[in-house]
Amino acid sequence: MMLEGKRILLGVTGGVAAYKAAELARGLQRAGARVQVVMTDAATRFVAPATFQALTGEPVFTDQWDTRIANNMAHIELSRVADAILVAPATADFLAKAAHGLADDLLATLCLARECPLLVAPAMNRQMWLHPATQRNVAQLVADDVVILGPDSGEQACGETGLGRMLEPQDLVDELADFFAPRLLAGRRVLVTAGPTYEPIDPVRGITNLSSGKMGFAIARACRAAGAQVALVAGPAALATPRGVARTDVRTAQQMHDAVMSALDAATHTDVFVAVAAVADWRVANPSERKLKKRGAHDAPKLEFVQNPDILATVARRAGAPWCVGFAAESEDLEANGQAKRAAKGVPLLVANIGHATFGRDDNELLLIDEHGSRRLPRAGKAQLARALVAEIAQRIPSR
Ligand code: C5P
Repeated sequence: MMLEGKRILLGVTGGVAAYKAAELARGLQRAGARVQVVMTDAATRFVAPATFQALTGEPVFTDQWDTRIANNMAHIELSRVADAILVAPATADFLAKAAHGLADDLLATLCLARECPLLVAPAMNRQMWLHPATQRNVAQLVADDVVILGPDSGEQACGETGLGRMLEPQDLVDELADFFAPRLLAGRRVLVTAGPTYEPIDPVRGITNLSSGKMGFAIARACRAAGAQVALVAGPAALATPRGVARTDVRTAQQMHDAVMSALDAATHTDVFVAVAAVADWRVANPSERKLKKRGAHDAPKLEFVQNPDILATVARRAGAPWCVGFAAESEDLEANGQAKRAAKGVPLLVANIGHATFGRDDNELLLIDEHGSRRLPRAGKAQLARALVAEIAQRIPSR
């Protein structure tokens, strides 16, 4: 599990997003963390401490003068046993306090007394977020090595729309998992392709496939969390760019090929290339510059196809090629077909999707095929599989 054995002190401050902190506490536990909740007085106006106590099975602390801690130093005791403090939601008031080192309640005091990392998930009205005072405080917190998670943009409880929404509980769990991810690819450069490609027939029609890009984006994100410098070349995919990843958007296989080659040429050295994109094998030879019109009842356009460049095989053949990982969506005889494809492409590792219809789903099941045979990564969320795959890649790549 992503947060196995981690002790997280979850600070809840007084914003309406406090109701989501209950789901967050559950999510952290599901990921393997032990959660201790500390609330500000204002937070208890939104959600009762009993909710968190019931969910976490731990007493909730709200008061600096809580006599349940023997030496009466809750701020020291609680912050010393935590691997990280996550404050979610973090109000503008809390950010101001933390930025200035105020310590007028239990949560602010233990943030000041902590020896562990502090992560905060701001949640507030968009004007409060954009206010120069808040932005100053956030800049100060960043300078003090506090990790700022979000905020997101969207509909707000006050009825306005804009920046200031707290990240969703699952996103925060994933962010925390990234934060704790072992830096298995520190100092490495990784290039990833992801998503489908789109091959035009005419200006408004084209040929594409059902790839959502989720697996490739998850791999780019996991490589980044593992400390790599990551470039992502993405076909048309409606997904947010993972934080810290340099993304280039393309449409066609030829554009993806060109973007990959320029990325390789631009970098002095790329350690790993992960080809996750579902690249069209063929493109229409002569796409029409005008929209094709239907004429008679029996009139249908004749499309001619030409083959697209095989990006992965081309990269694998380059002089000084990165260590290459290919993907395959085989429907039968996974291992034999996978080994054949691995040899044909000339890559050390081929990852086969097990079963059909992984396109667009949030989970997947993979078979890793290398020179020694195969190894299954059992069904799991794509984020988790991506982390497992990064660990497998890190074990196999040559040391520098
Ligand atoms: O040959 P096939 O499409 O089954 O191979 C899949 C693998 O090859 C994937 O890793 C895919 O990203 C890559 N590929 C490529 N360029 C192509 C076709 C596939 O990089 N034109």
